[in-house]
Amino acid sequence: MTQSVRIGIIGAGAVSDYHHVPGINIDPRAELVAVCDPNETLLEQRKSEWGEFDATTSYQDIADHPNVDAVIIATPNFTHREIALACLAGDKHVMCEKPLGLNYEESKEMYQAARDRNLRHMTAFTYRFAPSMRYVRHLVKSGALGELRHFRSQRFLDWPETSWGWRQYKKTAGAGDLFDMTIHRIDFAQDLLGPIKSICGAVAQFAPRDKTAEGQDCPPSEVDDWSSLIGQFENGAVGVWEGSTLMKGYHNDGFGYEWAEVNGSRGSAAYQLTDPNNVLVGLNGNPVEKMPVPDEFLVIEGSPRKPHEGVPSTVFRYDLVYEFVSAIVEGRDAIPGFDHGASAQAVADAVLKSHDQKTWVDLDIDLEN
Ligand SMILES: NC(=O)c1ccc[n+]([C@@H]2O[C@H](COP(=O)([O-])OP(=O)(O)OC[C@H]3O[C@@H](n4cnc5c(N)ncnc54)[C@H](O)[C@@H]3O)[C@@H](O)[C@H]2O)c1
Repeated sequence: MTQSVRIGIIGAGAVSDYHHVPGINIDPRAELVAVCDPNETLLEQRKSEWGEFDATTSYQDIADHPNVDAVIIATPNFTHREIALACLAGDKHVMCEKPLGLNYEESKEMYQAARDRNLRHMTAFTYRFAPSMRYVRHLVKSGALGELRHFRSQRFLDWPETSWGWRQYKKTAGAGDLFDMTIHRIDFAQDLLGPIKSICGAVAQFAPRDKTAEGQDCPPSEVDDWSSLIGQFENGAVGVWEGSTLMKGYHNDGFGYEWAEVNGSRGSAAYQLTDPNNVLVGLNGNPVEKMPVPDEFLVIEGSPRKPHEGVPSTVFRYDLVYEFVSAIVEGRDAIPGFDHGASAQAVADAVLKSHDQKTWVDLDIDLEN
Protein backbone atom coordinates (compact mmCIF):
# COMPACT_ATOMS: atom_id res chain seq x y z
CA MET A 1 0.00 0.00 0.00
CA THR A 2 1.26 3.50 -0.83
CA GLN A 3 2.25 5.40 2.30
CA SER A 4 0.10 8.44 2.89
CA VAL A 5 1.76 11.66 4.03
CA ARG A 6 -0.44 13.96 6.12
CA ILE A 7 0.56 17.57 5.59
CA GLY A 8 0.08 20.73 7.64
CA ILE A 9 0.50 24.11 5.98
CA ILE A 10 1.70 27.05 8.05
CA GLY A 11 0.96 30.31 6.23
CA ALA A 12 -2.16 30.25 4.06
CA GLY A 13 -1.11 33.13 1.80
CA ALA A 14 -0.23 33.53 -1.87
CA VAL A 15 2.43 30.87 -2.39
CA SER A 16 0.54 28.14 -0.54
CA ASP A 17 -2.42 28.76 -2.81
CA TYR A 18 -0.30 29.04 -5.95
CA HIS A 19 2.04 26.03 -5.62
CA HIS A 20 1.67 23.98 -2.50
CA VAL A 21 -2.02 23.15 -2.35
CA PRO A 22 -2.20 22.28 -6.08
CA GLY A 23 0.93 20.15 -5.54
CA ILE A 24 -0.76 18.29 -2.66
CA ASN A 25 -3.95 17.87 -4.71
CA ILE A 26 -2.24 16.07 -7.59
CA ASP A 27 -0.16 13.73 -5.39
CA PRO A 28 -2.25 10.69 -4.39
CA ARG A 29 0.13 10.05 -1.47
CA ALA A 30 -0.40 13.51 0.05
CA GLU A 31 -3.28 14.78 2.17
CA LEU A 32 -3.83 18.29 3.54
CA VAL A 33 -5.00 17.81 7.13
CA ALA A 34 -4.25 21.08 8.97
CA VAL A 35 -3.64 24.75 8.18
CA CYS A 36 -2.34 27.54 10.40
CA ASP A 37 -2.62 31.27 9.79
CA PRO A 38 -3.18 34.13 12.24
CA ASN A 39 -5.70 35.61 9.79
CA GLU A 40 -8.98 33.89 10.69
CA THR A 41 -10.89 35.41 7.79
CA LEU A 42 -8.33 33.95 5.40
CA LEU A 43 -8.57 30.56 7.12
CA GLU A 44 -12.34 30.54 6.54
CA GLN A 45 -11.83 31.54 2.89
CA ARG A 46 -9.27 28.73 2.43
CA LYS A 47 -11.75 26.18 3.76
CA SER A 48 -14.08 26.95 0.89
CA GLU A 49 -11.16 26.97 -1.61
CA TRP A 50 -9.00 24.10 -0.30
CA GLY A 51 -11.55 21.79 1.39
CA GLU A 52 -11.88 20.73 5.02
CA PHE A 53 -8.88 20.84 7.36
CA ASP A 54 -8.12 21.44 11.04
CA ALA A 55 -7.70 25.20 11.32
CA THR A 56 -5.56 26.98 13.89
CA THR A 57 -3.98 30.38 14.44
CA SER A 58 -1.00 28.92 16.34
CA TYR A 59 1.85 27.14 14.55
CA GLN A 60 2.59 25.23 17.76
CA ASP A 61 -0.70 23.36 17.24
CA ILE A 62 0.67 22.07 13.92
CA ALA A 63 4.06 21.25 15.46
CA ASP A 64 2.22 19.18 18.11
CA HIS A 65 -0.53 17.80 15.85
CA PRO A 66 -0.73 14.00 16.21
CA ASN A 67 -2.04 13.52 12.65
CA VAL A 68 0.51 15.69 10.84
CA ASP A 69 3.58 13.96 9.40
CA ALA A 70 5.05 16.84 7.42
CA VAL A 71 4.82 20.61 7.37
CA ILE A 72 5.10 23.25 4.66
CA ILE A 73 6.17 26.64 6.02
CA ALA A 74 5.06 29.53 3.81
CA THR A 75 5.10 32.49 6.17
CA PRO A 76 7.01 35.81 6.12
CA ASN A 77 10.77 35.27 6.18
CA PHE A 78 11.40 36.38 9.79
CA THR A 79 9.22 33.55 11.12
CA HIS A 80 10.83 30.64 9.23
CA ARG A 81 13.50 29.74 11.79
CA GLU A 82 11.27 29.78 14.85
CA ILE A 83 8.49 27.79 13.15
CA ALA A 84 10.84 25.26 11.54
CA LEU A 85 12.64 24.57 14.84
CA ALA A 86 9.28 24.04 16.60
CA CYS A 87 8.05 21.64 13.90
CA LEU A 88 11.30 19.68 13.85
CA ALA A 89 11.12 19.41 17.65
CA GLY A 90 7.62 17.98 17.10
CA ASP A 91 9.14 15.33 14.78
CA LYS A 92 7.66 16.73 11.56
CA HIS A 93 9.42 16.64 8.23
CA VAL A 94 9.70 20.23 6.97
CA MET A 95 9.64 21.98 3.63
CA CYS A 96 10.31 25.68 4.15
CA GLU A 97 10.03 28.57 1.76
CA LYS A 98 13.05 30.57 0.74
CA PRO A 99 14.95 32.45 1.99
CA LEU A 100 15.36 29.73 4.58
CA GLY A 101 16.24 32.21 7.34
CA LEU A 102 17.00 35.89 7.71
CA ASN A 103 20.72 35.10 7.41
CA TYR A 104 23.19 32.22 7.06
CA GLU A 105 23.42 31.60 10.82
CA GLU A 106 19.66 31.02 11.08
CA SER A 107 19.64 28.78 8.01
CA LYS A 108 22.56 26.70 9.28
CA GLU A 109 20.81 26.23 12.63
CA MET A 110 17.71 24.99 10.79
CA TYR A 111 19.77 22.57 8.70
CA GLN A 112 21.56 21.16 11.74
CA ALA A 113 18.29 20.75 13.68
CA ALA A 114 16.79 18.69 10.81
CA ARG A 115 19.99 16.69 10.36
CA ASP A 116 20.29 15.92 14.07
CA ARG A 117 16.70 14.63 14.26
CA ASN A 118 17.08 12.68 11.01
CA LEU A 119 14.00 14.35 9.51
CA ARG A 120 13.47 15.22 5.84
CA HIS A 121 14.12 18.89 5.06
CA MET A 122 13.58 20.81 1.85
CA THR A 123 14.02 24.41 0.70
CA ALA A 124 11.35 25.54 -1.78
CA PHE A 125 13.70 26.54 -4.60
CA THR A 126 11.01 26.33 -7.24
CA TYR A 127 12.93 26.98 -10.44
CA ARG A 128 15.04 23.83 -10.12
CA PHE A 129 11.85 22.04 -11.19
CA ALA A 130 11.34 23.93 -14.47
CA PRO A 131 11.65 21.38 -17.32
CA SER A 132 14.19 23.46 -19.28
CA MET A 133 16.27 23.96 -16.13
CA ARG A 134 16.30 20.20 -15.59
CA TYR A 135 17.43 19.65 -19.18
CA VAL A 136 20.14 22.34 -18.98
CA ARG A 137 21.33 20.53 -15.84
CA HIS A 138 21.46 17.25 -17.77
CA LEU A 139 23.57 18.88 -20.51
CA VAL A 140 25.91 20.33 -17.88
CA LYS A 141 26.29 17.11 -15.85
CA SER A 142 26.63 14.83 -18.88
CA GLY A 143 29.54 16.92 -20.17
CA ALA A 144 27.73 17.96 -23.37
CA LEU A 145 28.69 21.62 -22.80
CA GLY A 146 32.34 20.69 -22.26
CA GLU A 147 34.39 22.45 -19.62
CA LEU A 148 32.13 24.89 -17.76
CA ARG A 149 33.24 28.50 -18.13
CA HIS A 150 30.42 30.95 -17.52
CA PHE A 151 26.93 31.38 -16.00
CA ARG A 152 24.58 34.31 -16.58
CA SER A 153 21.18 35.07 -15.05
CA GLN A 154 18.80 37.97 -15.48
CA ARG A 155 15.41 38.25 -13.76
CA PHE A 156 13.20 41.33 -14.29
CA LEU A 157 9.74 41.90 -12.84
CA ASP A 158 7.47 44.93 -12.99
CA TRP A 159 5.85 45.14 -9.55
CA PRO A 160 3.90 48.13 -8.20
CA GLU A 161 5.70 50.95 -6.37
CA THR A 162 3.16 50.93 -3.54
CA SER A 163 3.88 49.09 -0.27
CA TRP A 164 4.78 45.39 -0.37
CA GLY A 165 3.92 44.93 3.33
CA TRP A 166 6.33 42.68 5.27
CA ARG A 167 8.46 42.24 2.12
CA GLN A 168 9.90 45.77 2.33
CA TYR A 169 11.36 45.83 5.85
CA LYS A 170 14.71 44.41 6.94
CA LYS A 171 13.33 42.98 10.18
CA THR A 172 10.64 40.94 8.44
CA ALA A 173 12.17 40.21 5.00
CA GLY A 174 15.95 40.52 5.53
CA ALA A 175 16.46 41.96 2.03
CA GLY A 176 14.37 42.77 -1.05
CA ASP A 177 14.94 41.44 -4.57
CA LEU A 178 18.10 39.69 -3.32
CA PHE A 179 16.30 37.37 -0.86
CA ASP A 180 13.09 37.19 -2.86
CA MET A 181 14.33 36.56 -6.40
CA THR A 182 18.10 36.48 -6.87
CA ILE A 183 18.56 33.86 -4.14
CA HIS A 184 16.79 31.30 -6.38
CA ARG A 185 19.30 32.06 -9.14
CA ILE A 186 22.22 31.71 -6.74
CA ASP A 187 20.81 28.30 -5.80
CA PHE A 188 20.39 26.96 -9.31
CA ALA A 189 23.77 28.33 -10.37
CA GLN A 190 25.40 26.33 -7.54
CA ASP A 191 23.35 23.29 -8.52
CA LEU A 192 24.59 23.59 -12.10
CA LEU A 193 28.22 24.63 -11.61
CA GLY A 194 29.04 23.75 -8.00
CA PRO A 195 29.93 25.94 -5.02
CA ILE A 196 30.64 29.66 -5.42
CA LYS A 197 33.90 30.62 -3.73
CA SER A 198 34.04 34.40 -4.04
CA ILE A 199 31.68 37.22 -5.01
CA CYS A 200 31.45 40.96 -5.52
CA GLY A 201 27.93 42.32 -5.11
CA ALA A 202 25.87 45.50 -5.32
CA VAL A 203 22.27 46.44 -4.50
CA ALA A 204 20.15 49.56 -5.13
CA GLN A 205 16.82 50.98 -4.09
CA PHE A 206 14.70 52.71 -6.72
CA ALA A 207 11.40 53.57 -5.00
CA PRO A 208 10.36 54.71 -1.49
CA ARG A 209 7.11 52.66 -1.50
CA ASP A 210 5.76 54.83 1.34
CA LYS A 211 2.10 54.51 0.34
CA THR A 212 -0.19 51.52 0.40
CA ALA A 213 -2.16 50.51 -2.68
CA GLU A 214 -5.14 52.28 -1.06
CA GLY A 215 -3.12 55.55 -0.82
CA GLN A 216 -2.41 55.51 2.93
CA ASP A 217 1.01 56.53 4.29
CA CYS A 218 3.28 53.72 5.55
CA PRO A 219 6.93 53.50 6.66
CA PRO A 220 9.17 53.61 3.56
CA SER A 221 10.87 50.54 2.16
CA GLU A 222 14.29 49.61 3.59
CA VAL A 223 15.24 46.94 1.08
CA ASP A 224 16.84 46.59 -2.35
CA ASP A 225 14.85 46.79 -5.60
CA TRP A 226 17.86 45.65 -7.63
CA SER A 227 20.54 43.12 -6.72
CA SER A 228 23.56 41.95 -8.63
CA LEU A 229 26.73 39.99 -8.24
CA ILE A 230 29.66 38.65 -10.15
CA GLY A 231 31.26 35.53 -8.78
CA GLN A 232 33.83 32.80 -9.14
CA PHE A 233 32.92 29.14 -8.75
CA GLU A 234 35.30 26.68 -7.12
CA ASN A 235 35.61 24.87 -10.48
CA GLY A 236 37.12 28.00 -12.11
CA ALA A 237 33.97 29.17 -13.94
CA VAL A 238 32.67 32.71 -13.52
CA GLY A 239 29.13 34.03 -13.20
CA VAL A 240 27.04 37.20 -13.40
CA TRP A 241 23.58 37.67 -11.86
CA GLU A 242 21.15 40.59 -12.02
CA GLY A 243 17.58 40.94 -10.76
CA SER A 244 15.03 43.67 -10.21
CA THR A 245 11.38 43.84 -9.25
CA LEU A 246 10.92 47.34 -10.68
CA MET A 247 11.68 47.05 -14.38
CA LYS A 248 8.95 48.88 -16.26
CA GLY A 249 7.25 47.02 -19.07
CA TYR A 250 8.35 43.59 -17.85
CA HIS A 251 5.07 42.60 -16.17
CA ASN A 252 4.10 39.85 -18.63
CA ASP A 253 1.12 38.56 -16.60
CA GLY A 254 3.29 38.48 -13.48
CA PHE A 255 5.93 36.17 -14.96
CA GLY A 256 8.30 39.00 -15.92
CA TYR A 257 11.43 38.15 -17.87
CA GLU A 258 13.91 35.48 -16.94
CA TRP A 259 16.94 34.17 -18.74
CA ALA A 260 19.71 31.96 -17.38
CA GLU A 261 22.46 30.27 -19.35
CA VAL A 262 25.59 28.17 -18.99
CA ASN A 263 28.45 28.49 -21.45
CA GLY A 264 31.10 25.80 -21.76
CA SER A 265 34.01 24.94 -24.04
CA ARG A 266 31.74 22.88 -26.37
CA GLY A 267 28.40 24.66 -26.19
CA SER A 268 25.82 26.92 -24.58
CA ALA A 269 22.39 26.17 -23.08
CA ALA A 270 19.75 28.61 -21.86
CA TYR A 271 16.57 28.36 -19.79
CA GLN A 272 13.70 30.87 -19.90
CA LEU A 273 10.97 30.85 -17.27
CA THR A 274 8.41 32.07 -19.79
CA ASP A 275 9.04 29.13 -22.14
CA PRO A 276 9.91 26.31 -19.72
CA ASN A 277 9.03 23.37 -21.99
CA ASN A 278 11.57 24.54 -24.59
CA VAL A 279 15.29 25.11 -24.22
CA LEU A 280 17.93 27.00 -26.22
CA VAL A 281 20.94 24.90 -27.11
CA GLY A 282 24.03 25.30 -29.34
CA LEU A 283 26.57 22.45 -29.30
CA ASN A 284 29.82 21.70 -31.15
CA GLY A 285 29.91 24.81 -33.36
CA ASN A 286 26.17 24.89 -34.12
CA PRO A 287 24.18 28.08 -33.47
CA VAL A 288 22.02 28.39 -30.35
CA GLU A 289 18.50 27.26 -31.35
CA LYS A 290 15.23 26.52 -29.63
CA MET A 291 14.34 22.84 -29.15
CA PRO A 292 11.61 21.10 -27.15
CA VAL A 293 12.67 19.70 -23.79
CA PRO A 294 12.78 15.88 -24.19
CA ASP A 295 9.76 14.15 -22.63
CA GLU A 296 11.69 12.52 -19.79
CA PHE A 297 12.65 15.95 -18.42
CA LEU A 298 9.14 17.47 -18.47
CA VAL A 299 8.26 16.25 -14.96
CA ILE A 300 10.35 14.78 -12.15
CA GLU A 301 10.42 11.00 -12.13
CA GLY A 302 7.13 9.49 -10.98
CA SER A 303 5.23 12.78 -10.83
CA PRO A 304 1.59 12.32 -11.89
CA ARG A 305 1.55 15.88 -13.30
CA LYS A 306 0.52 16.12 -16.95
CA PRO A 307 3.19 18.45 -18.39
CA HIS A 308 1.05 19.86 -21.19
CA GLU A 309 -1.88 20.76 -18.93
CA GLY A 310 -2.13 24.23 -17.42
CA VAL A 311 0.10 27.29 -17.77
CA PRO A 312 3.64 25.94 -18.37
CA SER A 313 5.36 28.68 -16.32
CA THR A 314 3.14 27.79 -13.34
CA VAL A 315 2.53 24.04 -13.28
CA PHE A 316 6.10 22.76 -12.89
CA ARG A 317 6.00 24.30 -9.38
CA TYR A 318 3.63 21.51 -8.28
CA ASP A 319 6.55 19.04 -8.50
CA LEU A 320 8.06 20.58 -5.34
CA VAL A 321 5.51 18.77 -3.17
CA TYR A 322 6.04 15.56 -5.16
CA GLU A 323 9.76 15.64 -4.38
CA PHE A 324 9.14 16.39 -0.69
CA VAL A 325 6.62 13.55 -0.33
CA SER A 326 8.82 11.14 -2.33
CA ALA A 327 11.77 11.85 0.00
CA ILE A 328 9.57 11.09 3.02
CA VAL A 329 8.13 7.90 1.54
CA GLU A 330 11.50 6.67 0.28
CA GLY A 331 13.43 7.71 3.41
CA ARG A 332 16.03 9.71 1.47
CA ASP A 333 17.18 13.34 1.41
CA ALA A 334 14.87 15.79 -0.34
CA ILE A 335 16.56 17.96 -2.97
CA PRO A 336 17.08 20.87 -2.56
CA GLY A 337 17.54 20.50 1.20
CA PHE A 338 18.09 23.00 3.99
CA ASP A 339 21.82 22.62 3.26
CA HIS A 340 21.24 24.11 -0.21
CA GLY A 341 19.05 26.83 1.32
CA ALA A 342 21.80 27.71 3.80
CA SER A 343 24.55 27.77 1.23
CA ALA A 344 22.56 30.07 -1.10
CA GLN A 345 21.85 32.24 1.95
CA ALA A 346 25.57 32.53 2.69
CA VAL A 347 26.17 33.86 -0.84
CA ALA A 348 23.22 36.29 -0.58
CA ASP A 349 24.51 37.57 2.78
CA ALA A 350 27.91 38.07 1.15
CA VAL A 351 26.30 40.30 -1.52
CA LEU A 352 25.09 42.70 1.21
CA LYS A 353 28.49 42.59 2.92
CA SER A 354 30.31 43.19 -0.35
CA HIS A 355 28.06 46.14 -1.16
CA ASP A 356 28.55 47.69 2.30
CA GLN A 357 32.33 47.19 2.28
CA LYS A 358 32.83 47.87 -1.46
CA THR A 359 34.98 44.76 -1.76
CA TRP A 360 35.08 41.09 -2.91
CA VAL A 361 33.99 38.58 -0.26
CA ASP A 362 35.25 34.98 -0.01
CA LEU A 363 32.73 32.31 1.03
CA ASP A 364 33.61 30.11 3.96
CA ILE A 365 30.76 27.66 4.45
CA ASP A 366 30.93 24.87 7.03
CA LEU A 367 27.44 23.53 7.58
CA GLU A 368 28.38 20.46 9.56
CA ASN A 369 30.12 22.04 12.58
N1 LIG B 1 9.31 29.51 -3.87
C1 LIG B 1 8.74 30.52 -4.49
O1 LIG B 1 8.75 30.58 -5.71
C2 LIG B 1 8.04 31.58 -3.67
C3 LIG B 1 7.07 32.41 -4.26
C4 LIG B 1 6.42 33.35 -3.44
C5 LIG B 1 6.75 33.45 -2.08
N2 LIG B 1 7.71 32.65 -1.57
C6 LIG B 1 8.07 32.71 -0.13
O2 LIG B 1 6.96 32.18 0.61
C7 LIG B 1 6.81 32.89 1.86
C8 LIG B 1 5.39 33.46 1.93
O3 LIG B 1 5.19 34.33 0.83
P1 LIG B 1 3.72 34.69 0.33
O4 LIG B 1 3.88 35.41 -0.95
O5 LIG B 1 2.84 33.52 0.37
O6 LIG B 1 3.31 35.74 1.48
P2 LIG B 1 1.85 36.16 1.96
O7 LIG B 1 2.04 37.43 2.72
O8 LIG B 1 0.88 36.11 0.82
O9 LIG B 1 1.41 34.98 2.95
C9 LIG B 1 2.04 34.76 4.18
C10 LIG B 1 0.98 34.21 5.14
O10 LIG B 1 1.62 33.85 6.36
C11 LIG B 1 0.76 34.21 7.42
N3 LIG B 1 1.54 34.31 8.66
C12 LIG B 1 2.25 35.36 9.13
N4 LIG B 1 2.83 35.03 10.31
C13 LIG B 1 2.48 33.75 10.58
C14 LIG B 1 2.73 32.86 11.66
N5 LIG B 1 3.50 33.21 12.68
N6 LIG B 1 2.18 31.62 11.61
C15 LIG B 1 1.40 31.25 10.56
N7 LIG B 1 1.11 32.06 9.51
C16 LIG B 1 1.65 33.30 9.53
C17 LIG B 1 0.13 35.52 6.98
O11 LIG B 1 -1.08 35.82 7.68
C18 LIG B 1 -0.10 35.24 5.49
O12 LIG B 1 -1.39 34.70 5.26
C19 LIG B 1 7.93 33.92 1.88
O13 LIG B 1 9.03 33.41 2.58
C20 LIG B 1 8.31 34.10 0.40
O14 LIG B 1 9.65 34.49 0.23
C21 LIG B 1 8.35 31.71 -2.35
